[in-house]
Amino acid sequence: MCGIIGYCGLSQAAPVLVKGLRRLEYRGYDSYGIAVSNRDIAVSKRQGKVSEGERDARSIRGKIGIGHTRWATHGVPNDRNAHPHTDCRGDIAIVHNGIIENYAALKRDLLERGHTFRSDTDSEVISHLIEEHYTGDLMKAVEDALPLLEGSYAILAIARGEKRIVAARQSSPLVIGMGDQEVFAASDMTPILEYTERAVFLEDGDIASLDPRGVVIRNSGRVVVRPTELIDWSFDDVKKGGFRHYMEKEIYEQPEVFSNTLRTLKREEVPKWLRKVKRISIVSCGTSFHSGLLFKYLLEEICRIPARLEFASEFKYFPPPLSELVVGITQSGETADTIAAIKVAKSYNCPTLAVTNVLGSSITRIADHTFYTQAGPEISVAATKSFIAQLAVLMHIVDELSGGTLTESLERANRAIEETLLLDMERAVACCQDAAHIFFVGRGPLYPVALEGALKMKEISYIHAEGYAAGEIKHGPFALLSEETPVIALCTPGPTYNVMISNIREMKARGTPMIILGEDGDWDLEEIADVFISLPSHDLVTRILAATVALQLLAYHTAEALGRDIDKPRNLAKSVTVE
Ligand code: G6P
Repeated sequence: MCGIIGYCGLSQAAPVLVKGLRRLEYRGYDSYGIAVSNRDIAVSKRQGKVSEGERDARSIRGKIGIGHTRWATHGVPNDRNAHPHTDCRGDIAIVHNGIIENYAALKRDLLERGHTFRSDTDSEVISHLIEEHYTGDLMKAVEDALPLLEGSYAILAIARGEKRIVAARQSSPLVIGMGDQEVFAASDMTPILEYTERAVFLEDGDIASLDPRGVVIRNSGRVVVRPTELIDWSFDDVKKGGFRHYMEKEIYEQPEVFSNTLRTLKREEVPKWLRKVKRISIVSCGTSFHSGLLFKYLLEEICRIPARLEFASEFKYFPPPLSELVVGITQSGETADTIAAIKVAKSYNCPTLAVTNVLGSSITRIADHTFYTQAGPEISVAATKSFIAQLAVLMHIVDELSGGTLTESLERANRAIEETLLLDMERAVACCQDAAHIFFVGRGPLYPVALEGALKMKEISYIHAEGYAAGEIKHGPFALLSEETPVIALCTPGPTYNVMISNIREMKARGTPMIILGEDGDWDLEEIADVFISLPSHDLVTRILAATVALQLLAYHTAEALGRDIDKPRNLAKSVTVE
């Protein structure tokens, strides 16, 4: 969702801001803008893609500026509602991520006091409130204005005649990049990585003054010092490197990502208290929900630890009675619902554990302990390598809690992912690309894989796809089966193999084209299948991983055949930072 970038240094700000906005595009947006301070503050903003108006924006001169990609929440996507927003005189400009919950009351009061509003956004109240408190010191004005706001925000503000940016954070991510006589601010490290690896993560309540000489941070009226952290992601990680799409690149990075994550985890101690847990609750959203479901299966099946999985968005409002460990799984570490759910767990005094990909992200500051996935920056909106990296962490935990039952399989896993990447999806794509609906079915641990396969397919191809536990398909979806509705069935050896074959035969009898993912040499399945995809798997771990990767490839190539905007699918955001 919305992205923020700020620059204050010795170079021209506009080109840095525009490039930063391009790097933030992956978060999802519908409009964008920049404000640059020279003698006056110049603003360039519009609805649409950065590439469409970037020449105008780049030409603005000045060495201090702020920029924003907007994902509409209050007010439709149009030029007026794009950020930055200014005060009445155009002397102060702000960009804002988050939601100002009491904006309607604030706006009414500001209008009564004679302020002129130019947009329908909640964010614009911020520039007018700062204006009311401004007496020549932007930092002080921001400090005075912010207590009036309720909700979440990451804000950057500039004022005419002041050679600095003022930044503030409350429940929305904001990182400061420390360069050489230049300083950056952004929603995440991706737009900053090419300039510096030194980062300072702001905490809730922090207000910072940024200028080329350095950064001063205050919280509750006092100066505070936040550590400077070294980010080991490289700029190359955020380039496409010869692949057609980031998603393709990220799919092919998975063998390395899986083994890097495991290698890093092996160097860490599993906390002692984790070894003693009796029950676990898991909260997450989207793709991370599916890794959570797999975790639940593995914990219960292998460790015999009862586990409950909840959508973070439900958990926050309807928390179950609980006293156990609560695990939050989130690639970004910023998903508002997951953060809120972990806060609820803390309010119950439950121990909390985060699994995330982003160093210094919000969840790492709240949870008692964090396990990091080593996926590197994931740019494509559809999660692939971060999911595989989450599985590496979660399978590692299961392995540790079960006395090493998965160790050998985990060592072989890498190879299985590599071999899966060689699979040919052409016939399966031909079967899917004209379909209006596709069902993905699996049982046991392959049910979450079916859900994730369906999610990938709908996210990037826009074909309606649904994942089902195969046994449930008879309770309704059967009515929709026809020659035009392909079913993708995951059927590998195990306790449900025979019943799965019966399900497949029943579906086949309705004329349904069957794409079956099974194991090499399974002649029975090959005979039933319209398209058979042979997975290079031989145990539970490799079955889960190979089936996941195969379905990622199927979704990717189907979307490619349909000419979709694969890395930035319509209406979707990489990181959902509002509830
Ligand atoms: C969005 C993204 C998904 C992601 C989900 C949860 O919907 O488009 O790819 O799975 O958020 O994100 P998280 O960062 O919490 O894993």
